[in-house]
Amino acid sequence: MRFISIKEAIKRGKGNVALRGWVYRERGSNQLKFIVLRDSTDIIQCVIDKDKISEKEWEDADKLLVESSVEVEGEIKEDKRAPTGYEVKVGRLNVVHFAEKYPITKDQSIEFLADNRHLWLRSRKMTAILKIRSTVFGAIHEYFRKKGFYEYQSPIFQSVQCEGGSTLFNVPYFGNKGVFLAQTWQLYAEPAIFSLEKIYTIEPAFRAEKSKTSRHLTELWMCEMESAWARFDDIINYGEELIKHIVKKVLDENKEELNILERDAKKLEPTIKKKFPRITYDDALRLLKDKFRINIEWGKDLRTNEEDKLSELFDTPVAVTRYPKKVKAFYMKEPDDSPNKKPVVNGVDFIAPEHYGEIIGGSERESDIEKIKKRLKEEGEKVEEYEFYLDTRRYGSVPHGGFGLGVERIISWICGLDNIKDAIPFPRTMTRFKP
Ligand code: 4AD
Ligand code: MG
Repeated sequence: MRFISIKEAIKRGKGNVALRGWVYRERGSNQLKFIVLRDSTDIIQCVIDKDKISEKEWEDADKLLVESSVEVEGEIKEDKRAPTGYEVKVGRLNVVHFAEKYPITKDQSIEFLADNRHLWLRSRKMTAILKIRSTVFGAIHEYFRKKGFYEYQSPIFQSVQCEGGSTLFNVPYFGNKGVFLAQTWQLYAEPAIFSLEKIYTIEPAFRAEKSKTSRHLTELWMCEMESAWARFDDIINYGEELIKHIVKKVLDENKEELNILERDAKKLEPTIKKKFPRITYDDALRLLKDKFRINIEWGKDLRTNEEDKLSELFDTPVAVTRYPKKVKAFYMKEPDDSPNKKPVVNGVDFIAPEHYGEIIGGSERESDIEKIKKRLKEEGEKVEEYEFYLDTRRYGSVPHGGFGLGVERIISWICGLDNIKDAIPFPRTMTRFKP
């Protein structure tokens, strides 16, 4: 017989089926053995009756431990008591591999599960998250390709910083100093808009984050876009559309997985239905003061707690714009109407609802080469290292901009996770780099 998936077998609901997978649970007596079989699609209860199979098969069945790999053939029937509503009466059993005693049992500590991440990936929770993660990656590619963007790649070994020196990873590089892991593709993406105009990527980014929060990884996947001719509003529009597209895709394709994660899909619906509020940094300060009595001095960056408070006021992501120049990166454009005394930049952060923090950071890019040089010097950077980047402002400079979306941040929010670590198969943080 041809093997079919458990999901397909349940869909058929009757007749003989051949299934293969792993033992998810097992229990039994000396007459009957119940196993719950798991494959990538679902789980199903299988009953093995001593009288209905050969002696050898019964002996094998009796020895089966959790996570053994097996092939079974038998009749599938509806059974309301079974975990997924169906049961297979096994007529033939082939054990592909007898698993050793599985180390993961119920109620284990988060640390233990992290040490056994390679095994924990098999859990229903992780399987559901990984499926949603796959949808998110697919949705990103779909969105940008439909919009006429080219996929483009930047180097991971880089010779300049972009998002501040404090989160740079230095790497030994044949005795050379000043080689870092990419914090972002940006400085190597801007040069390419002069050939491709509209580009995007999903690639790893590295941040030496010394914070042990539930939303920081040291290795993350960032989706980034950069577009020639795009003005500030265009960048914000792309961000809003992209988020809507991703969330819609997950709601269309991953209802089951959201259920397994006990994530209330209704909480995500406003995001695809409503226009996202767009507020300025000044508005944000006002809201924090009026609604939460939080006083922030103009010029201070919004911290986690303040972003969280702000997110309580909205049921969709909110786009915050016009941040003080000094809290944002050197490449962000100072708009023409920027007040002299309190200069601002056309930078935007999208803050997710429900305390999931910043999911997108982007901006229109500064076109004035002198302003860029000045900022770099103020930050103690060696301007000569940036000559390749400054050339983008020397030969046919055009208005442009882009953003970065933290893929694990958006997965974390969509799945309603307690910690961003579960949004990636093998999380890397300040304290975790194994297995
Ligand atoms: O806001 P960030 O630092 O922006 C940039 O790197 C720009 N150069 C992107 C661009 O314009 N092309 O990072 C972008 C996003 C953040 O909004 C956040 O969602 C995510 O990347 N991010 C992290 N996610 C997890 N762990 C970390 N340590 C992260 N740092 C940033
Ligand atoms: Mg940011």
